[in-house]
Amino acid sequence: MKWLRKKQTGQLDTTQLPRHIAIIMDGNGRWAKSRGLPRKAGHAAGAENFRTVATYCKEIGIEYLTVYAFSTENWKRPADEVQELMGLLERYLREAIGQMERDRVRMKFFGDTSVLSAGLQQLITETEEISRRFEGVQVNICLNYGGRDDILQAAVAYAKDYAADKAPILTEARFADYLYSAGVPDPDLVIRPSGEYRLSNFLLWQLAYSEFYFTDTLWPNFGPRELDRAIAAFQQRDRRYGGVSK
Ligand code: IPE
Ligand code: IPE
Ligand code: MG
Repeated sequence: MKWLRKKQTGQLDTTQLPRHIAIIMDGNGRWAKSRGLPRKAGHAAGAENFRTVATYCKEIGIEYLTVYAFSTENWKRPADEVQELMGLLERYLREAIGQMERDRVRMKFFGDTSVLSAGLQQLITETEEISRRFEGVQVNICLNYGGRDDILQAAVAYAKDYAADKAPILTEARFADYLYSAGVPDPDLVIRPSGEYRLSNFLLWQLAYSEFYFTDTLWPNFGPRELDRAIAAFQQRDRRYGGVSK
């Protein structure tokens, strides 16, 4: 009853927040199209919304936010769109570095960043380095990320350690230490906006027991109120992990 009252007033129950939220930031192109704008305007609006949502997560006390920004499959897009996305990212990181002392957000990157431009790689290293000392919220940006690639690169890294006689006996937890997300707890809640019902190669290992939330809202329109709704839905779920209800 207490919870229902809170829901009706549009408030968020902050006593049972997901520790880790993962978001597939999808629908930028359709957002732009619906306004008669070029796709790049959608990506700019999506980037702006990412800022808003990340700030909101920090405000309400979410510990980890992981966002899908560019997949291993997104290279299939026209070259000018890929360039636009990389340019936006570069701009975003420059600004983020400039405001880091104020924002105090720890940032990490998941994915194979070695194929990105030297400039971007430098910005990524700098961002991770400067923000290492910040605590409160950790934002993980998945960039040239694929869930299958993640598992594969982990297997390769493990094999190397094995060959060098440095490998631990493999358990699920130890294997997870080789993933891009090493040290980060699995997402509690994964959100996919834009009306698509698929994972598109996002965090395949890590989402094994996450709660899924789908909505037709396009990413540039998925603001704090929408996130509240997703969290409220999450708070109604019965997470049994294969067991029985408490
Ligand atoms: C998400 O928006 C951005 C990236 C995948 C980089 P889309 O560009 O996929 O938008 P839609 O799906 O075409 O609307
Ligand atoms: C998933 O969106 C990747 C990102 C949001 C970065 P896509 O738009 O690439 O996914 P599909 O093509 O609809 O599966
Ligand atoms: Mg899409």
